Amino acid sequence: MAEPVGVQRGLEDVVALESRICFIDGKQGRLIYQGYDIRDLAARSTFEEVAYLLWYGRLPTAAQLADLKERFGTLRALPDRLQEQVDRMPADAHPMDILRTAVSGLAFFEPEETRPGASSIGGAQRLTAVLPTILGQFHRRRKGLPPLAVRPELSQAAYLLYALLDREPTELEARAIDVALILHADHELNASTFAARVTASTLSDLYSAVTSAIGTLKGPLHGGANERVMELLDEIGVPTRVDEVVHAKLVRHERVMGFGHRVYKVEDPRATILRDWSRRIGEAAGDLHYYELLRKLEEVVHREKGLYPNVDLYSGSIYSLLGITHDLFTPIFASSRVAGWTAHVLEEYQDLRLIRPTAKYVGAVDLPYIPVAQRS
Ligand code: SDX
Repeated sequence: MAEPVGVQRGLEDVVALESRICFIDGKQGRLIYQGYDIRDLAARSTFEEVAYLLWYGRLPTAAQLADLKERFGTLRALPDRLQEQVDRMPADAHPMDILRTAVSGLAFFEPEETRPGASSIGGAQRLTAVLPTILGQFHRRRKGLPPLAVRPELSQAAYLLYALLDREPTELEARAIDVALILHADHELNASTFAARVTASTLSDLYSAVTSAIGTLKGPLHGGANERVMELLDEIGVPTRVDEVVHAKLVRHERVMGFGHRVYKVEDPRATILRDWSRRIGEAAGDLHYYELLRKLEEVVHREKGLYPNVDLYSGSIYSLLGITHDLFTPIFASSRVAGWTAHVLEEYQDLRLIRPTAKYVGAVDLPYIPVAQRS
């Protein structure tokens, strides 16, 4: 039995396990998936290739990639009885709650093969394929749009945009979302991935692990930050108000969403890439006001707190300019991170160790039991 270490709040800097899936160099600002630098993948790969890489540990051949694309197309449709359940969910519910509930409900209708022990790659592909359908069906119903046609010929990025916008995306728009999906696909033991691994470490099933992860990602300190960045930009309005609004937040010891990171001590390499895409999409739309606000925000937050942008700072400006509503931003994050969550669940099943840290007890001990009649 190893000597217990002191309390590490938030498990900061605690090395919980060994993994081959993702490496983050927080000092150099580098991110690597299964050996490949995120900058190469963002510039040259696709989400389908990256999902394959995360699950299998190698880039696919052309035939393997074509097969995965076809699998994603065939796995997109929802079981009718789940569709009926989603259709009865409150139209004003947050889409992350819809996602969490629908994934949990999907488990009722899926074959045994997605349970631990058998090949859970099938379940990983199913969940990755179906999340955009759940989001699209719900969003279209709440907006009174026609029901979603499951378009098997579209790439995952193009299908996600088609599902949420009810129009064919341009090549530039589809590429922007494809890069965003690549950048969000995995990030080592972030809170939602850790939640998935804790669930899997009890030999619970893949769907329960992803349900745990969705609930965790929703939090504003994690995946929910991208939605709150846009609320902040709408509150600021114009670049001349950035100093005033940021100063007021910092005086109230509030967090400025989209900045800071538990691991990166320099700029998050994903923010670097998303900043450039925010500019490109803004230029294509002839609307750079979000981009200009964000550049000013970066300058002020770095000057005041020495903080750098993280992945959530620029993503919302891109989604907004594509016409996507704010409460769908974190679900888009989930549509990508499900590849990483499931890759980590598969890795946990292959080298399983129940994840169970301890707490330093600081409460009372040996108190005498007083019968209720004698308690005041
Ligand atoms: C993601 O883990 C992952 O990899 C996550 C993620 C992924 O891909 O899965 O990268 C995705 O979740 C990115 C982070 C998105 N969240 C936000 O943008 C929310 C705002 N950020 C902060 O809440 C914060 O930076 C965290 C939660 C991201 C990290 O917090 P830590 O490591 O617990 O740091 P901390 O809260 O202890 O802060 C240390 C100091 C404090 O100053 P003091 O009070 O000691 O003077 O830095 C300050 C904090 O006040 N600080 C901030 C700040 N982040 C840290 N001050 C203002 N605004 C911020 N954003």
